[in-house]
Amino acid sequence: MCGIVGFTARQPMSVRVLIDGLKALEYRGYDSCGIALKQKDGLLVQKVKGKVSGLEEIIDPSITGICGIAHTRWATHGEPSVINAHPHQMEHVTLVHNGIIENSEELKQELQSKGYVFHSQTDTEVACAVIDDLSKAYTDKIDILHKAGFILKGSYAFAIMFDDEPNTIYAVRKDSPLILGISDNASYLASDASAFLSETSLIMDLEENEVARLYNGEIEIYDINCALIHRSAYKSTLSLSDIQKDGYDTFLLKEIHEEPAVIKKTIHHYLQQSLLDLEQTMPDLSSYNRFVFIGCGSAMHAGMIGCRLAGKYARILCSAELASEFRYSDPILSADTLCIFVSQSGETADTLAAMRLCKDKGIDTLAVVNVLGSSLAKEAKFTLYTQAGKEISVATTKAYTSQVCVLALLVLKKAMQENLLSIEQQNIMENQLKTLPLLIRDFMSNTNVERFAKHIENAEHAFFIGRGLDYALSLEGSLKLKEVSYLQSEAYAAGELKHGTIALIEKGTPVIALITDPMLKDKTLSNIKEVQARGACVLLMIREDLYTPSIEADETILLPALSDIMQAVASVVPYQLMAYYVAKKRGCSIDQPRNLAKSVTVE
Ligand code: G6P
Repeated sequence: MCGIVGFTARQPMSVRVLIDGLKALEYRGYDSCGIALKQKDGLLVQKVKGKVSGLEEIIDPSITGICGIAHTRWATHGEPSVINAHPHQMEHVTLVHNGIIENSEELKQELQSKGYVFHSQTDTEVACAVIDDLSKAYTDKIDILHKAGFILKGSYAFAIMFDDEPNTIYAVRKDSPLILGISDNASYLASDASAFLSETSLIMDLEENEVARLYNGEIEIYDINCALIHRSAYKSTLSLSDIQKDGYDTFLLKEIHEEPAVIKKTIHHYLQQSLLDLEQTMPDLSSYNRFVFIGCGSAMHAGMIGCRLAGKYARILCSAELASEFRYSDPILSADTLCIFVSQSGETADTLAAMRLCKDKGIDTLAVVNVLGSSLAKEAKFTLYTQAGKEISVATTKAYTSQVCVLALLVLKKAMQENLLSIEQQNIMENQLKTLPLLIRDFMSNTNVERFAKHIENAEHAFFIGRGLDYALSLEGSLKLKEVSYLQSEAYAAGELKHGTIALIEKGTPVIALITDPMLKDKTLSNIKEVQARGACVLLMIREDLYTPSIEADETILLPALSDIMQAVASVVPYQLMAYYVAKKRGCSIDQPRNLAKSVTVE
């Protein structure tokens, strides 16, 4: 939700370590930010509303410090403002926080009765006071932070400075990510390693409820019993090029162009020779008679695709559920159900809570995640990693397609286990899986998606229609468009638009239609006629072998002819490109759309 970075060093280091670290973490939130830097003559605290570039404008880049903490925020408690921005300070304690303290209101009252005065609307300031209050009764900081862990309910990653240990940072986490880094002269902490990657790629994990002490460039880790423990460092798999734009104007465009390579890598991870490899690379699915796909946002859309494919190919009872709804729905789950959790970050609060609910009910869980060692990956019975690499653009593209890839392979495995996939079908799938990345690359270089954008950029709203899998893909296309271009758009099952929403169609209203299923082609074409009769501007994407010149549309893009399993991966790419072009023409903040954050660790 928010981004945290901090360092301690043997010699004073430039404030840029914090500023650059925050910039790398802006995908986690960017409505306000701040730093606390320990200088020779005291602690410098600076905060601004808005992005890190605002902080750069007020901070002298030549200043140095021996240690510091910094934060970029995605507001939960209290509006984005300087007063609510982190670091927060309460008497002898200065800290930054990612997460939510659920019992902050009751704690606040208790602390007010002890004389604490609060200035912000945040839960973080309350946590700061809790730690300060404990520091009046106890001296050992490790002990204080463990004790705070019993008082604070909710999720948190904290980086904390105490006035009486001015060159030291303490870190503690519960249900929120925090990673440590170590170089010859300095030690670091951050929400993810990209924040200090230009300084070091040597990282160390901090487990739940452990406390880290960073001092003079060293790191000590203490377990739940306050005992010092040894933790080995290892090399991060992230490289600097993963966190740079490599000549593209945005991370979104870079990441869309990485999709062919990501799809190839993801497929290769599970299948080197033939589909039979899935026997070894994926868990045994034979005992499951029901799949429930669960996720949020695009991950939920990937789950919808998995659900449709599983129904069709593996003939298994399945559903796709929004994690935030599922967890409160008192779901009926039998022992032969496998709940499949889809999440790029592996940290989304609702998805994690939904998984914990299933585990409490004794239901088997499988996580499809991108981030190694994330909470979902750790807690699931089975984990299948996508191979998307670091995704920086807040709007997901390559992580989504790699999720669809993994789910498609999972479905194929189940279909084979149930003897529902003939050898001939297996051969077709194998060939298509091998050529899919190349086909997508060719499609991207030879197709002009930009011409769709000119019909949409000035529209008030747009509609996406499709049937079956094309409906699930339309939902993702519509989400991409609205999140990066701020254009109101809705996706409808093509047959459903006429039940009310067609009232919004008038001359020039863009309707983006997708047709990839031969069985449903004529039905969707009829729906296209209905909106054309009311003046809609129809932008059609259709599988090339289903297209005939008699089909009328204002613009048409031909998609490669693939089986629906591969189509589900490939067909979203033009939607992603279209969202990029529309957002660019509308001058939007493409990589960091307003109000969003990449990883939503609150409910
Ligand atoms: C946020 C992101 C979306 C993402 C969703 C689920 O809303 O902006 O792009 O689809 O969270 O995230 P996850 O990490 O669980 O896939």
